[in-house]
Amino acid sequence: MIEDHWALERRAFANTPDPEFIYRSPSFAEGYARLLHDATDLRGGLSLITGEIGCGKTMLARALADRLAGSTCDLIEVPYPKVTPTQMLQTVAGGLGIQPPPRGKLALVQAIAARLAERHAEGRRPVLIVDEAQLATPSLLEEIRLLTNHEARQDKYLHVVLLGQPELRQRVKQRPQIDQRVSLRFHVEPMEAEDVRGYVEHRLRVAGWKGKTIFTHDAFTALAARSEGIPRRINTLVTQALFVGAMRQLTAIDGELMFDVADDQE
Ligand SMILES: Nc1ncnc2c1ncn2[C@@H]1O[C@H](COP(=O)(O)OP(=O)(O)OP(=O)(O)O)[C@@H](O)[C@H]1O
Ligand SMILES: [Mg+2]
Repeated sequence: MIEDHWALERRAFANTPDPEFIYRSPSFAEGYARLLHDATDLRGGLSLITGEIGCGKTMLARALADRLAGSTCDLIEVPYPKVTPTQMLQTVAGGLGIQPPPRGKLALVQAIAARLAERHAEGRRPVLIVDEAQLATPSLLEEIRLLTNHEARQDKYLHVVLLGQPELRQRVKQRPQIDQRVSLRFHVEPMEAEDVRGYVEHRLRVAGWKGKTIFTHDAFTALAARSEGIPRRINTLVTQALFVGAMRQLTAIDGELMFDVADDQE
């Protein structure tokens, strides 16, 4: 219904981290450039990316993963770190092509160390991405720290990217051994009010929108205020507004409708 009424080819505001829809706001572009540099050029050891819920951390990780695909940086992802240290090491071993991964922890650690050294000698530069890292237990964080210890004289064998909600920063701060290994700290901020319009129109264009105005200036002002610049909230509000607008056969969405939709969400 939304797509037919507004002449879109597909869903424009799904709450999934689909890299095709990435909007490079100034803050996103800076985070991405710094993360890419830390993970690939500097190989500093550990990038720590934090941000409030729904601000775009996973999207940033997807952008990095997309960029690394086909490069010398093999990507290993731990999407949900509610796993034991041994289970995580098995994921890492699998990601490094150790098949089948040994069962016991010590054997795993040894196999990973050997494979990391081999990979390094072959010019491969693996990157481990741990999303939702605020959920990691202290023992898992410790195991991740140990993984950053594998290094040659000049270079880390494995670069780690931790992404998580703001409390991750405190959790890392409480552990100086990890904290001192952090080579990049970046906090993903909500979008500035002036980026909200760019974000919405970008996603519409990716979905096939050809440029007939949908949202009035006041609609964007209302959207920026009520979403507080948080992309996931923007997606939800815009989807609701597009739906109501389609139901009522409107030709545009104004500020009043946007405020109504936001009120309904609360
Ligand atoms: N730069 C962006 N460009 C396009 N869409 C984005 C961008 N940032 C976020 N989004 C959209 O917002 C949604 C929420 O973002 P994301 O999942 O990355 O947030 P998060 O910070 O990982 O949240 P959580 O703390 O809940 O894990 C994404 O599914 C995506 O649709
Ligand atoms: Mg996320």
